[in-house]
Amino acid sequence: MQTALAEKPNASTAITADNYSYLQRYIYQESGIVIDLGKNYLLESRLLPIVKQENLATLNDLCSLLRATASPALKSRVVESMTTNETLFFRDPAVFGALQRHVLPQLVEARRAVKRISIWSAAASSGQEAYSVAILLREMGLEGWRIHILGTDLNQQILDKAAAGRYLQIEVNRGLPAKHLVRYFNRAGLDWQINNDIRPMVTFQRFDLRSSMHTFGPFDLVLCRNVLIYFDVETKKQILGSIRQTIAPGGLLALGAAETTINLDSAYTRVSYGQAAFYQVP
Ligand SMILES: C[S@@+](CC[C@H](N)C(=O)[O-])C[C@H]1O[C@@H](n2cnc3c(N)ncnc32)[C@H](O)[C@@H]1O
Repeated sequence: MQTALAEKPNASTAITADNYSYLQRYIYQESGIVIDLGKNYLLESRLLPIVKQENLATLNDLCSLLRATASPALKSRVVESMTTNETLFFRDPAVFGALQRHVLPQLVEARRAVKRISIWSAAASSGQEAYSVAILLREMGLEGWRIHILGTDLNQQILDKAAAGRYLQIEVNRGLPAKHLVRYFNRAGLDWQINNDIRPMVTFQRFDLRSSMHTFGPFDLVLCRNVLIYFDVETKKQILGSIRQTIAPGGLLALGAAETTINLDSAYTRVSYGQAAFYQVP
């Protein structure tokens, strides 16, 4: 990762070069997220709310606090603030179309004898991805099957929201077909609550993707989407290699549209379904 500060400190944050590089190192160490040079606006928009909550004046004050006596709670608030949790139901129609028409039907055929399916949403954010896959499987019937979808994320706050399964109107408006809203959600005041047809299929747990995965799996399908983009090449390689060990032979990995295994892990084979790419383990 880069640690030197090339830019002059921005007048509005007045963050010093030393503190900028301290935050870069700190966030990298705690999450693997790379904050490039010149991202003062990003640090400001994510961390100034914490500066205010702590009755501090500037990002430099926050750095002093972190360096000195920061509580674990403050430290995790800083790291969680730097994660980007953008997600939506059925994000990327090409991928979810391929899951619905090809990947999940093939998986069901392959697992018909054991009636068991295990899937991992490896950067689950607020849960929309995991619930979208659960909805597709529920739509296939599969009475009597043991289906488990594990959702993990570094950010405990966002996982609490995922586990609650409660979404704002604006969130269900993003990507969730009306027929699924009606069938799989109940009104909860102004919000929508995922119902018991879906909720028991999914569990959530905090997990840093850079940690050992030797107790994970075997999964039939892993979705690790729109998170590798935040990491450097070494971290991407390490995570892709570890995830590969958690996938059952012939199982698939789904990445975000801007992500690939190419030049990072040659043991995956790219498989295309229309516009959607999946990565298969031997
Ligand atoms: C942009 S969201 C992706 C959500 C979903 N997969 C999607 O594609 O819509 C990226 C998620 O990765 C999580 N994340 C960042 N660093 C992580 C790490 N080291 N380990 C696990 N999750 C991490 C963030 O907290 C965030 O919720």
